[in-house]
Amino acid sequence: TKQIPKEKGLDQTLTLLNEGYRYIPNRRQNQQSDIVQTRLLGKKAILISGEEAARLFYDENYFKREGVAPRRIKKTLFGENGVQTLDDEEHKHRKLMFLSLMTPERLEDIKKITMRQWISKVPEWKRNKQVKLFDEAEEVMCRSACEWAGIPLREEEVSQRAREFGDMIDAIGGVGERNQRGKRARQSSEKWIEDIVKKIRAKKLKPAENTAAYIISFHRDMKGKRLDTHTAAVEIINVLRPIVAIGRYVVFSARALHDYPETLPQLRSGDDTYTTMFVQEVRRFYPFTPLLGAIARKDFSWKGYSFNKGTLVMLDVHGINHRADLWSDPDEFKPERFREWKGSPFAFVPQGGGDHYMGHRCAGEWITVMLMQTSLEFLTNHITYTVPDQDVSYSMVRMPTIPESRFVIEDVRDRAGTQ
Ligand code: HEM
Repeated sequence: TKQIPKEKGLDQTLTLLNEGYRYIPNRRQNQQSDIVQTRLLGKKAILISGEEAARLFYDENYFKREGVAPRRIKKTLFGENGVQTLDDEEHKHRKLMFLSLMTPERLEDIKKITMRQWISKVPEWKRNKQVKLFDEAEEVMCRSACEWAGIPLREEEVSQRAREFGDMIDAIGGVGERNQRGKRARQSSEKWIEDIVKKIRAKKLKPAENTAAYIISFHRDMKGKRLDTHTAAVEIINVLRPIVAIGRYVVFSARALHDYPETLPQLRSGDDTYTTMFVQEVRRFYPFTPLLGAIARKDFSWKGYSFNKGTLVMLDVHGINHRADLWSDPDEFKPERFREWKGSPFAFVPQGGGDHYMGHRCAGEWITVMLMQTSLEFLTNHITYTVPDQDVSYSMVRMPTIPESRFVIEDVRDRAGTQ
């Protein structure tokens, strides 16, 4: 067996926090290797990158998810006992519950809801001098998510709930105050949704049968038992929170549109193919998920390297989307690259890789792509705006990252001919 190149030092958790999205790419470069051994959170960890590495990472014969998420992630982003932490039959059964929400009719529903929610913000924006797109996008996505999922949302609680979903997402790489805010947000959200689950089960609230609120509240596990109230709330939040996360991609889409104004006529032309390519390139180019972890189920060897049972393995998610062996000019924003793209479940992994049904790949990838398209259509066809001077740069260290200014727009008007 070959020796896995090893990073020096006792523990690199601080290095990870200091280098953010560049942490795994930097280790690869240091060691001139796509497999590197290190220590994170006091444990041995193996970092892997590349298309073949992603294929390995998603092979359930070799890896499991139970015990992977550190406590601080379960207290903020994930919650306890959610689908992310399950394996094997239990995972597939739970995953099917999520995927059953994604019928063509229901996808069409959320698209219409989201467009209506965007349009309803315009009168207010026209009155205000400036609009902070990030805050507005999270609010619009929160309204859309709750409406689509059958969760009642009172007008006076909209901004609180939107902020709480945002804070859970914002906590991923955060320590101290950002982590605390994420924890409080999760506690408050879970309490809110648990109460709704109880009311639904008691028939005091009657969401439509095809909504996430109904389907998750009455879901039965493999033994025929309902999820306990807390787990049901965690899974409903696993639908609502990531829809709010799409707001981040909307901000990056607006930033791309600002940086590459030559794309505007094509986005306005009504050519759906171009809009899809643009959206795919936003998901490839801009950083969101930095890395993913799994644990080796058994001793095995791969490409001559040996992996021991119980070892934490981290996949280079953002790095893979920027690898020169998979993408030409990887650090340039070029929607056109997706015109000839053949598709690969392991080379383009912004929302995980592999198969949606068999593995942990994101259940909301279709919703994400669709709502990014809808939001771009809104920004380019329904309104006009100007972009004042501001700092639109984003840190490669902060996880998750976002343009410094949160993207401010001004002089919002209805676009003539469309209203
Ligand atoms: C899983 C990213 C939107 C629901 C994941 C994973 C990533 C991800 C990286 C983990 C894959 C893995 O563990 O291998 C994103 C991003 C989004 C997004 C960047 C948009 C900004 C959504 C939406 C939904 C959703 C809109 C639902 C409506 C889920 C669920 C899982 C998941 C339920 C867990 C799947 C499992 O463990 O089997 N997502 N996601 N996501 N996502 Fe998303």
